[in-house]
Amino acid sequence: MTRILLVEDDVFLLDVMRSILEIEGYEIFPASNGREALDLFVATRPEMVISDIMMPEMDGYELLESIRAIPIGATIPFLFLSARTERSDVSRARALGVDDYLFKPFDAPELLGAVRSRLERRRVLEMFDTRSAHLQTVLMLANVIETRDPYTAGHVERVRRLALSLGFALGWDSEEIILLEFGAILHDIGKIVVPRTVLRKTGPLTEEEWELMHQHPDAGARMLEGVDHLKAAIPYILHHHEWWNGCGYPNGLGGEEIPPQGRMLAIVDAFDAMTTNRPYHASMTAREAFAEIERMKGVYFDPHMADVFMKSYKNE
Ligand SMILES: [Fe+2]
Ligand SMILES: [Fe+2]
Repeated sequence: MTRILLVEDDVFLLDVMRSILEIEGYEIFPASNGREALDLFVATRPEMVISDIMMPEMDGYELLESIRAIPIGATIPFLFLSARTERSDVSRARALGVDDYLFKPFDAPELLGAVRSRLERRRVLEMFDTRSAHLQTVLMLANVIETRDPYTAGHVERVRRLALSLGFALGWDSEEIILLEFGAILHDIGKIVVPRTVLRKTGPLTEEEWELMHQHPDAGARMLEGVDHLKAAIPYILHHHEWWNGCGYPNGLGGEEIPPQGRMLAIVDAFDAMTTNRPYHASMTAREAFAEIERMKGVYFDPHMADVFMKSYKNE
């Protein structure tokens, strides 16, 4: 049940609002001034505060300021109830971090509408916060890998951006786009098993060294198997070196046997490798890389996805 702290010194109005909200299933903690409300806030940790402005002992502004200063109150939805006031009051409240205003007199649908929309907004922000916390962790991991391999500096970030724009151009839904971002950032995470000397070698790799290099998709996939919120991104990691003609690794899948996640990442990964300096080749221009992709679609790359990529990249 969503808990709301309701602060109002007009006992009649407090009762009316309380019944309106309780009928809708909210749990209400009532207080008649700011001081009482602040104690109650700390004790009950509500999910939202609705407060009058003019009250004895501690007014609404002071209450808002105090709640915003407490870590658990810094982002809590805070709604002011107010008589039609001058603009100066509104701007003061905004400066202190109020989320919304409800002007008296208001009716039940207005009150409920304001409460619902603030809580929904809060829910969306929380989801976003969790996701960006996960992203931070994942970026840190990917950066560790990158520091071992100076030739690919910035590769992860560029692949992330290219992959996102190809994902949008392919019309993938937002759930897949979220996974795509994780997948793109982590696609080479398995390089942790490849010795530094191999990663930094400037000459051609020996057969044994290639073998080590070819282990990174499997190694990366195994690393993610035990991580609940990353497991679904495994196809990006495992299949980004498969080729359309079936001659890639690790599984030698061909054509549409290759999961679409792997097919799309293969294109942007190769494009970035071609357009940046690597130990084994100098960088190409985007135009030269396109000619190469054009030549290799149907061989290395999914022809349709390659076309979408080149079209969307040119449109950027
Ligand atoms: Fe790779
Ligand atoms: Fe890569």
